[in-house]
Amino acid sequence: MTQDEAKALVGKRAADMVEDGMRVGLGTGTTSVQFIKALGARVQAGLKIRCVASSDSSEELGRSLGMDVVSLEELPELDLYIDGADEVAPGLALIKGGGGALLREKIVSSAAKRFIVVVDESKIVPHLGKFPLPVEIVKMARPLVERRLTELGLNPVLRQKKDGSGPYLTDENNFILDCHAGEIIDPGAVAAEIRAIVGVVEHGLFLGRAEFAMIAGEDGVRELHG
Ligand code: A5P
Repeated sequence: MTQDEAKALVGKRAADMVEDGMRVGLGTGTTSVQFIKALGARVQAGLKIRCVASSDSSEELGRSLGMDVVSLEELPELDLYIDGADEVAPGLALIKGGGGALLREKIVSSAAKRFIVVVDESKIVPHLGKFPLPVEIVKMARPLVERRLTELGLNPVLRQKKDGSGPYLTDENNFILDCHAGEIIDPGAVAAEIRAIVGVVEHGLFLGRAEFAMIAGEDGVRELHG
């Protein structure tokens, strides 16, 4: 099974969990795209749901598939949030934000009663940190935040746009510093240290948030509980 096939499989399996009348949070990233497409097909077949998206791109995709995607103001409580992750470590400690949507992802996931992670086997790691940890910051605070993250040994690098035309900007118009931290032994402590820095808007450590992970691999989809 290719990685794309695994993403499509787990995305469809997650879409099958959605029931009529549910209020659903849409994640961001390539695995979430598969989830949204599978859910969109169910909506086109008659499923009645309302959704809130965690990024402009997921909102556009959902709408293009005929889904009712509204703001958190209209729908502040969600039944279910489905999203991918960049790394999943024991205890369901996650790094998210490779796609740049970590802030809205954390907001929308916090509005949901249940948050289920959808990944392929490649995302399962013994400890976090090989994937750079994204930290979303206010633009003017960059020199200060960069210095503090460097003092913490987190090796921040300002994310650039893929076309090389300048720094990457999030949907909320902030910068992202990707922290090449190496092995993160104590994610809770690192999260607290980052959060204490003035100018940090949010970080990509999602700890104690997911109910379980659905993991697609050669043998199909398995569940990992924290
Ligand atoms: C988006 O900002 C991210 O948090 C994604 O959820 C995460 O990077 C996983 O993306 P893929 O499904 O594309 O690997």
